[in-house]
Amino acid sequence: MQQLSGGMQNIENGQLTKYNRFRNGDQMKGIILAGGTGSRLFPMTLVTSKQLLPVYDKPMIYYPMSTLLQAGIHEILIISTPEDLPNFRRLFGSGEALGISLSYMVQEKPEGLAQAFLLGREFIGGEPCAMILGDNLFHGAGLPLLLKKAAKKERGATIFAAYTKTPERFGVVEFDSQHRAVSIEEKPEKPKSDYCVTGLYFYDGRASEFAAELTPSARGELEITDLNNRYLNAGDLEVVCLDKDTIWMDMGTVASLWEAQEVVKRIQQENGTHIGMLEEAAFRQGFLSREALAAYAEKYRATAYGAYLKNICEEGKKY
Ligand code: G1P
Repeated sequence: MQQLSGGMQNIENGQLTKYNRFRNGDQMKGIILAGGTGSRLFPMTLVTSKQLLPVYDKPMIYYPMSTLLQAGIHEILIISTPEDLPNFRRLFGSGEALGISLSYMVQEKPEGLAQAFLLGREFIGGEPCAMILGDNLFHGAGLPLLLKKAAKKERGATIFAAYTKTPERFGVVEFDSQHRAVSIEEKPEKPKSDYCVTGLYFYDGRASEFAAELTPSARGELEITDLNNRYLNAGDLEVVCLDKDTIWMDMGTVASLWEAQEVVKRIQQENGTHIGMLEEAAFRQGFLSREALAAYAEKYRATAYGAYLKNICEEGKKY
């Protein structure tokens, strides 16, 4: 991929100024939806965004953003509330320091996950686009390959399903005897399987067009499940079931947030690896130079985070 000199994309209040540092290569774009009131985490989220809360040693949004980077996505739109968006901008700026391109957009009210494809229509520009929810954590050795495959698909959509003990909390996939997905229901009272839809979606260039056809559900939201069913009914939805070695968590409740803290702590302390590392992901994708990675390691030298980056940097010299 060719990287051109600096610049940024900015979208706010519907205004788009586009300066694309990346040319050629893959065109898939990414959205991180980091809105919502965080009411299930009150009072922790009264004055800050859920997605900025710490999860062990880094802000929550690092985990989903690193997943998009692992998929090879470097043009990302962050959507959040009018109150919280400035904090994301303070944290990441144009993305240039990570070698990526970030845009920002306000979602005035939480009117559904599928609304992201309407708000982001100009950013997406009819290209394939992935979306990840800002409170979702994915980790597993097999994941990067699955992500790359989904990102490369030219037609249709890919979503990921995971086994859960509480399917009624999620979108639930029904399978036929051949293990083909036949329906998806949002938070059903009587779930038709124990497999829920995780908060990571890859769509082809039709996502905004299909989202525009949706009508609000009984709870007044444009449901991502309706968008997924639109693809499913057209025969264009692939549902990939994550294997038992892949970790998926949503960190949106007190219990799941603390479970995530424990999981990240355990992985990082026991395996000597770190997860949700933006700088590592950007470096491994070739977005970030080794010099820039070394500068991050130096900036964070007082932490295990910095020491880990330093190791990655040294390891990089072998190749
Ligand atoms: C959303 C989706 C649901 C999906 C879940 C994954 O639910 O509506 O289909 O299973 O994310 O985290 P929410 O957490 O916004 O209630």
